[in-house]
Amino acid sequence: MQLFNPPENLQKKAHIKSMEQYLEIQKEFEEDYNNKWLELAKDNLEWFKKPEISLNGENAPFYKWFEDWEINAAYECIDANLEKNADKIAIIFEAENWEVTKITYKKLSQQVNKTANLLKKLWIQKWDRVALYMPMILESIYAILACTRIWAIHNIVFWWFSSGALEERIVSCSAKLVITADWAYRKWKAYNLKNTVDKAIENIDSKPKVLVIKRNNIEIKINENDYIYNDLILEESEVCEVEKLSSEDLLFLLYTSGSTGKPKWVKHSIWGYLLWVKLTTKWAFDLQKWDVFWCTADIWWITGHTYSIYGPLLNGGTTVIYEGVPTYPDAWRVWEIIEKHKVNKFYTAPTLIRSLHKLCKDLPKNYDLSSLEILWTVWEPINPEAWNWFYEMVWQKKCPIVDTWWQTETWGHMIAPLPAVTPTIPWVATLPMPWIMANILDKNGEDIWYNKKWLLCITKPWPSMIRWLWEDDEKFIKSYFSDVKIDWKPVYFSWDWAIKLDNNYIKITWRLDDVINVSGHRIGTAEVEDIISKNESVAECSVVWRKDKITWENIFWFIVIKKEINKKQELLSEINLQLRKNIWPIVKLDDLLIIEGLPKTRSGKIMRRLLRSITAWEKITSDISTLENPKIIEEIEKLYNENI
Ligand code: PRX
Repeated sequence: MQLFNPPENLQKKAHIKSMEQYLEIQKEFEEDYNNKWLELAKDNLEWFKKPEISLNGENAPFYKWFEDWEINAAYECIDANLEKNADKIAIIFEAENWEVTKITYKKLSQQVNKTANLLKKLWIQKWDRVALYMPMILESIYAILACTRIWAIHNIVFWWFSSGALEERIVSCSAKLVITADWAYRKWKAYNLKNTVDKAIENIDSKPKVLVIKRNNIEIKINENDYIYNDLILEESEVCEVEKLSSEDLLFLLYTSGSTGKPKWVKHSIWGYLLWVKLTTKWAFDLQKWDVFWCTADIWWITGHTYSIYGPLLNGGTTVIYEGVPTYPDAWRVWEIIEKHKVNKFYTAPTLIRSLHKLCKDLPKNYDLSSLEILWTVWEPINPEAWNWFYEMVWQKKCPIVDTWWQTETWGHMIAPLPAVTPTIPWVATLPMPWIMANILDKNGEDIWYNKKWLLCITKPWPSMIRWLWEDDEKFIKSYFSDVKIDWKPVYFSWDWAIKLDNNYIKITWRLDDVINVSGHRIGTAEVEDIISKNESVAECSVVWRKDKITWENIFWFIVIKKEINKKQELLSEINLQLRKNIWPIVKLDDLLIIEGLPKTRSGKIMRRLLRSITAWEKITSDISTLENPKIIEEIEKLYNENI
């Protein structure tokens, strides 16, 4: 396998300059794990009260870190930068209509404080939940940081979710306030968010208040409980006291899909999150004062939330926020933004790279991309074809491509090359962050031989690890700490398959639970199936993914049984409409197959793995004797080959 060495010019200015330095840090952590963390914490964050306690594992796996610490996230992101960086640009915002707004740290501080004061005026207090259903606009960032300043818990809901999904998310955490905008713009189309919010709260008895950001003068329906941000904000002061929080307090809630069909809210602690994000942005992104960093992820998903907002701000950096879809109206928008803002560090998903390649592979030649230094990718392995195109066409073989592996549950990078240090290989996430103990294990916690696919685990607790799930301790243990044990003690299991290569690099292969990754968004198959099953013609169904050249997974393969359905296309359209209404538009089935029965174990669990093999035309070699109806596999295979 060919290794690509990082260019030497990066090493000179990097935070971590050599493999020796990486190994040294790793050794220090191995020798004195808890104290080393204490030291890093003290050196990297501001604090109101200094921590003296490191890890508390008494109630494992409900670990606690630095319980005696007092901190505030907005303070860390903004106030900590005011002394030296008040006039530095914190955010470059580009709207779909090309309007650019640049916000300094000072301006950011004023806007966040005003918003925080407004929240207080709307009776939002410590620990209250506030649902954010907003487009990618500056006010969204003000709202997020305003919540953290007064310790209201922001509950993030992607604005593309339907009213039903929003309702569920408001109810599940009893949000007292929903912040939204009148309109969102995407692909030059306007979406009325306020209407969706109205529908979502129609049936909620507690009737949360709604704070609306007006983006244009088109009239919207105003209800009794609605407040208009633009008018009220004018009266607010630019000064707002910060709430001091204990480091184990809750910072925000973010939904992640599970296999049970119900959303899981993931809890992380404030300190753990902030430290992790600050360190990974500094080390894995090697963020420097002069950098212009662009992460293309939507801020309502963990990647955007973490690395478009918190990571750059915590490091006093400049972050680019683009409102729209990067490839709309066409691929040139990406290159135009990079050229215009002189982006030098670019974080995106392989899907986007594949689209750029497909849409126009020679286009980068027309733009001045000389500012670009490093490309990072996330969400899925980057396939060699896309990797090579980017490396040769865009980089002209001069810059590294860095594949980062992490999860909503880990809050930030876990396995990723250090850009100036680690030689890379396409499709390989390489080495863990130097403080992370990752390994490929079997269920008994035994080390797995090299080059064999097995379970990717994190064997020691780390500060930014998931703390619990909102009101569901049992599910928390079952989901993450019951599968793999070392010396009878549970370790964190990531649900990813991985392989350890001869040089100790870790190559992530795929998830083994029933979660589908649609253009970088994780969606539970059970959630999709639940909606489909509501269709009158559907008796039972199973959704699996099938590879697509661009998005890799966004084509769903759907298998349903119900006798006497002749109009397959009609059923498909009906179901897609149902999905569109109940989840969101990118969740779409591309085809379906009508079958007699699903392959299930005797306990009734559907064996999606087998269905996946069929859609991939893989030969099924595993033992299927535990199936209730083993013959069904042959029948489905036959039907699939005849009909597809
Ligand atoms: O399966 C892994 C895949 O995405 C999952 C995490 O999804 P989510 O929590 O939505 O992502 C948040 C931000 C990453 C993982 O369990 N994944 C993520 N990065 C990679 C990856 N698979 C392979 N290579 C990666 N670099």
